[in-house]
Amino acid sequence: IFNMHTKQYAYRSYVIAGKIPKGTLPYSLWWDTGDMDSKWVSQPYHYVRLENFDDAYDLLIAGGEDHKTGQSDEEDITESERYFRLEAWTRSYFPMLEDIDYRWSGQIMEPVDSLGFMGKNQGDDNIYIITGDSGNGMTHTTIGARIISDSIAGKKNKWEDLYNPSRITLKTADDFLKEAGNMASQYLDWIASSDLKDTVELPAGEGGVISSGLKKIAVYRDYNNSLKAFSAVCPHLGCIVKWNTDEKTFDCPCHGSRFASDGTVTNGPALTNLSKIHIK
Ligand code: FES
Repeated sequence: IFNMHTKQYAYRSYVIAGKIPKGTLPYSLWWDTGDMDSKWVSQPYHYVRLENFDDAYDLLIAGGEDHKTGQSDEEDITESERYFRLEAWTRSYFPMLEDIDYRWSGQIMEPVDSLGFMGKNQGDDNIYIITGDSGNGMTHTTIGARIISDSIAGKKNKWEDLYNPSRITLKTADDFLKEAGNMASQYLDWIASSDLKDTVELPAGEGGVISSGLKKIAVYRDYNNSLKAFSAVCPHLGCIVKWNTDEKTFDCPCHGSRFASDGTVTNGPALTNLSKIHIK
C-alpha cells in the first residue's frame, strides 16, 4: 500500500482473559488512558472489555503492556513478566477476576496523528483501506464501511475528509520525526550482534537470528527437531526481523511485517515470504 507505512507504526499488545461471575459488571469497554507512572512504568494505557462466556460467567478481557513490534521498550523484561504485570494491574481494579484462562499478544497500528485512516488509498482509483485503528478495529470497520460505501456510490460522507488516508497533518511533525528516527535506527541491526550464537542453543519450537559472515539468518527449530532457515532480511524495505517467542513468528521492527515460523508472510506491508536458505 502506497506509503502508508510512513504514517502509522506497529505495536505489540498483550492480552489476558479470565472468568468473572455473571452480572458482576455491566457489558462495557474501559480504557485507562493515563500516561506512565512510577508504579506501572511501561504501559501507556490499558483496555478492558467484557464478553459473554456461559450462563454463569462472563469473560473479562484486559490488554496493555504495548511496545513497538520487534523492539522491547525495557531491556531484560520477558514476555511472562509482561503478562504478570498486566494480570497484577487487572486484579487491582477487578478483584472479582478468577483464574486467567487465556493469554495472547497481537499487533495494533498506531496512526501518527492518532486518527485512523479510512477511505480511498492514496494514489489508487479503486483500492480502499481501513487501518491505523489503535486497537479499535471493530468500531473503525463500522465507521469505515459507511465512508467507503458512500465513496463508491459517489456520495459525500461527512467524515470522509476527517479520516482521509491522504490527509497531511502538520501538527504531528515531532512524533513523525521521532518515529522515523526509531525506524531508521532499526537498520543498525545489520551490524549489531545477533541474538543467537549457535543453532545448538535453540530448543524445539523456538527461533532466532544468527550471523553468518555478513549475512543474517532467521532460524526456527520445529517440533520434529528439524532446522528451517531463511534470510532474516525483511522483503519490505530490508530491516532485520526478530523472533517472537510467544506467537512463534518473525516480526519486523521497522513497519510491523510478520512471518510465520515457515517464513510465510502473515502481516504486511511485506508482500512476499522470507527467502528460504539451505544450511548445513
Ligand atoms: Fe518494512 Fe520490514 S516491514 S522493512
